[in-house]
Amino acid sequence: MPEEAAPAVAPQGLEGVVAASTSISSVQDGFLQYRGYNIDELAPNAEYEEVAYLLLNNELPKAAELAAFKKQLVEARALSPYLMGILRSTSRKAQAMDVLRTVISASSTEEPEEADNARDAEYRKAIRLTAKMPVILAAFMRLQKGEEPVAPDPSLGHAANFTRMAFGDKAAALAPRVLNTCFILQAEHGMNASTFAARITAATLADMYASVTSGLGALKGPLHGGATDGTMIMLDQVGSVANVPAFVKKGFENKYKFPGFGHRVYRTVDPRSKFLRSFAADLQKSWKGTPYYDIQEALVEEVNRHRHFPVNVDYYAATTYTFLGIPAELGTSIFAIGRVAGWCAHVMEQHGDNRLIRPESLYTGPTGKKWAPAASR
Ligand SMILES: CC(C)(COP(=O)(O)OP(=O)(O)OC[C@H]1O[C@@H](n2cnc3c(N)ncnc32)[C@H](O)[C@@H]1OP(=O)(O)O)[C@@H](O)C(=O)NCCC(=O)NCCS
Repeated sequence: MPEEAAPAVAPQGLEGVVAASTSISSVQDGFLQYRGYNIDELAPNAEYEEVAYLLLNNELPKAAELAAFKKQLVEARALSPYLMGILRSTSRKAQAMDVLRTVISASSTEEPEEADNARDAEYRKAIRLTAKMPVILAAFMRLQKGEEPVAPDPSLGHAANFTRMAFGDKAAALAPRVLNTCFILQAEHGMNASTFAARITAATLADMYASVTSGLGALKGPLHGGATDGTMIMLDQVGSVANVPAFVKKGFENKYKFPGFGHRVYRTVDPRSKFLRSFAADLQKSWKGTPYYDIQEALVEEVNRHRHFPVNVDYYAATTYTFLGIPAELGTSIFAIGRVAGWCAHVMEQHGDNRLIRPESLYTGPTGKKWAPAASR
């Protein structure tokens, strides 16, 4: 057999490379399915807890299974004095994604089953991680405002409890329903960068906490979940609908990457964005500040006049969160609350049929150089 020639260039960004087989979700242009269920079915109808169960268990829960799963989530919500101590000693100016990553990483040191990568233990850890993430964020949001964190309410579901813990009776009436849908839409997305990061870590046989911490690190970047926060920064820079044409013209001239636009897989439409767009449109009606949604609509038209880019999940999620009263710099961390179930499902899938992920690189540097003592270089 003749030896196969190495490719002249490595596929940049691994575009088109299939890095793993998965039965968790299918992402194709315009379509997203979780375990065979189209998100168009799940997003308007399901509870986040049902979707988390689906991702972790391969099938939607029956009523008794859902009740038991919800109970397990409720029981896993409380934060230890150690974790509360970290939150209290963290600067109020810290970035929420850094806080989430730090506290989740720290929580591994209290995890009784940390080193156990067996399926049952990982399932219990996935429940603990999924339950704690919104509680950590809500407590941090309170501390940022100079308020005392409040205890979780066992009578409330995932999204409603987060809303109450973060906002108390100041919460927008629609917040639990809207956030429930947002968490579902963000829950899972094939081999996105943070999931890939989590799987690479899992494939070394590191534990679920290490893997989720890797996922949180990758999600923060502005080309991934960081685009949620980036969208709000952009909208504030634009400032008004009248400024849109000049902003877009200058943006294209300077090769600016408009946050919330473009996607590696979705070339025509991101199937998640229609739900979020409709939330943003509705919520702006009772919003007193800058008309961000109007600016967004004008931006979409103007950007697409120059070049077609679909808006992605982050674009209208950003304004949806803002209109619900969530500070602009916390949008990416809301994304993380939804995505944790997907990361955990991928860690379990990776550990269920593992092989170290270790691709090669195409060396493009010099060869054959000779070492000499520092004094004679
Ligand atoms: C999501 C994203 C990282 C996908 O990147 P990708 O598949 O590697 O695509 P590329 O960055 O190679 O983009 C291809 C072309 O489209 C342009 N492009 C892609 N997204 C763009 C954006 N948001 N604004 C302006 N131009 C964009 C690139 O500049 C490039 O142009 P070129 O062909 O003239 O060189 C990219 O679209 C982006 O940076 N978007 C903004 C950040 C964002 O919203 N991220 C969240 C993703 S869910």
